[in-house]
Amino acid sequence: MLFLSRYILQTYIVDNKIKQLKHKREQALAGGGEARIESQHKKGKLTARERLHFLMDEGSFQEIGMLVTHRSTDFGMEKEKYPGDGVITGYGTVNGRLIYVFSQDFTVFGGSLSETHAEKICKIMELAIKNGAPVVGLNDSGGARIQEGVVSLGGYADIFYRNTMASGVVPQISAIMGPCAGGAVYSPAITDFILMVEHTSYMFVTGPNVVKTVTHEVVTSEELGGANTHASKSGVTHFACANEIEAIKNVKNLLSYMPQNCEDKAPALPYEPQNELRPELNTILPQATSQPYDVREVINHLIDADSFLEVHKDFAENIVVGFARLAGCSIGIIANQPAFLAGVLDINSSTKGARFVRFCDSFNIPLLVLEDVPGFLPGTDQEWNAIITNGAKLLYAFCEATVPRITVITRKAYGGAYDVMNSKHIGADMNFAWPSAEIAVMGAKGAAEIIFKREITSAEDKEAKWKEKEQLYSDTFANPYRAAERGFIDEVIAPAETRLKLIRAFKMLENKVVNNPRKKHGNIPL
Ligand code: HXC
Repeated sequence: MLFLSRYILQTYIVDNKIKQLKHKREQALAGGGEARIESQHKKGKLTARERLHFLMDEGSFQEIGMLVTHRSTDFGMEKEKYPGDGVITGYGTVNGRLIYVFSQDFTVFGGSLSETHAEKICKIMELAIKNGAPVVGLNDSGGARIQEGVVSLGGYADIFYRNTMASGVVPQISAIMGPCAGGAVYSPAITDFILMVEHTSYMFVTGPNVVKTVTHEVVTSEELGGANTHASKSGVTHFACANEIEAIKNVKNLLSYMPQNCEDKAPALPYEPQNELRPELNTILPQATSQPYDVREVINHLIDADSFLEVHKDFAENIVVGFARLAGCSIGIIANQPAFLAGVLDINSSTKGARFVRFCDSFNIPLLVLEDVPGFLPGTDQEWNAIITNGAKLLYAFCEATVPRITVITRKAYGGAYDVMNSKHIGADMNFAWPSAEIAVMGAKGAAEIIFKREITSAEDKEAKWKEKEQLYSDTFANPYRAAERGFIDEVIAPAETRLKLIRAFKMLENKVVNNPRKKHGNIPL
C-alpha cells in the first residue's frame, strides 16, 4: 500500500515536471504570440519556425537554447520575457548533410539582438567551426535591442568576430528575410553568400530618414536597400528571390555545391559516362569576332544538364560566375560575357570574379574559366575609381588559388586581361584554346595603328595600307598558335571536344596539391 502511494506520488511529480517542460516548450513555440504572428503573415512573411520547417530535412532540427531569456531589467523589460529571446538556434540536416542554423523571430521584440540572443548565435557558430559544418542565418531583425544599449552592440561584435573566424573554415550563408539595418548588415556582409527576398527584406547602414536628413535625398527603403537594388547596383546580395520559399530553395541548392568545410571536398553526384562530344559548340560563336553571344549558352553545352547555379546574376553582367556540375562534380565557373559590354573587365566584374574565385578556392571547388575578353575598360570613371586596385583583386585571387584550374580561351584574350584570366603564367593547370582564339596584346586594328603609324602616314593610299597592316597583325596574332608554340596553351581543341577534355583534365587534377609560401596571410589589394 505504501509502495503504491509512493508510486502514485512519484508519477504525479514526474507528470507535473513534464507538464511544466511542455508548458515552457509551448511558450517558446508561441514566439511573440498569435497577433504578432498574424501581423508577420500579413506582411507576406513566414515566421522563424516556418522558415526552418522549409529549410531543414523533416524532423531533423534539434533546437539549442529554446528556454534562454534576456537579462535586461531596464524599462520594465524584466516583466516581458519570451523563451528563446527572439532567435531559434540549432542544428539539423539539409539533404542529409549537417548544418547549423539560426532563425531570427521578428515576433519577439522585432527579432532585435539582445546580449543573450547574440550568445545563442555565437554558440552555434562555435559548434559549426569545431565540427566543420556550414552556418545558415535566417535574418529578420530590427537590429540592436534598443532597451539593452551597449551590451547589444557588444553582442553584434561577438558575432562579427566569429563570422570572421569561421570565414574560409565553414561556408556561411545569410538569407535576409526582413529588415537588416545599421551595423547589423556587417554580419551577413562577412559571410560567403547573401540572399534577399524582393519587397520584404532590406539592408542599409542608414535608413531613408537619415539619408533624407543628411543628403536631402528622398528614397524608399526598397530603392535604398531592397533585394533588386543590392542584386544589381551594389552587388551586396548574390541572389534576389521572388519570395521566401524561393530563397530557402536557393540556400539548399547552394549548399549542395559546397563541401562541409575547408578540409572537405564537395559531394559528387553519381555520373554515368556517355558521349561527351558537343558538336553544337562548333558553330556557337558568331561569324564576326566583334559580334556578341551569350556565354551562358556555351556553359550550358559544357556542363551537366540544368546544373548551372548562377551567382550575382544581375550585377556586373560582363562576367558570369556560378556553380555547376561536370560529370557529377562541383565546379566554379568564371566566364567573360561578350553579350554585355563585350565582356570587358571593369571594377565591378573584377571584384565579383575575385570574390567568387576566393570562395571556390577556400572550399576546394575546382575552377573553370571561359575567356573571351577584349581587355580592361578604359575611361576616367574606371581609373579614378581604382580599376588598378580592383583589377588586381581578380589577378591576386587567381594567383593564390591552389584548386585545380582550367582555362578555355574561346575568342579574345587581349592584353593584361589575358594574363589575369587564369593564364598559365599565374598558375592555371590546363589551358585550352579554340581555333577561333585570338591571343594578343590588343585587337588587330589598334595594334596596326600603333606599330605602323609612321609607315602609313607616309603612304599614298592610307586606307588600303591600314587594311593591309591590320590584316598582317591579325594573321600573325589573331590565332591560338603562337601561344601554343610557347606552351602557354596546352592544347588547341575543337569546340565540340571541350566537355570531354574538361572532364578528363579535371579528373587528372583531382589530387592536385600546391602549397603556397608560408605566410601569416596575404595582403590582397582591398
Ligand atoms: C527592440 C524592437 C526593435 C529594436 C523593433 N522592435 N525594433 N524592439 N529593439 N531594435 C519591436 C517594436 O517595438 C515592436 O514591438 C516590434 O518589434 C515590431 O516592430 P514594429 O515597429 O511594429 O514593426 P514594423 O512596423 O514592421 O517596423 C520594423 C522596423 C522598426 C523598421 C524594424 O521596428 C524599426 O525601425 N525598429 C528600430 C530599428 C532600429 O533603429 N534599430 C537599431 C538600429 S542600430 P511590439 O511589442 O509592438 O510588437 C543597430 C546597431 C547595430 O542595429 C550595430 C552593430 C554594430
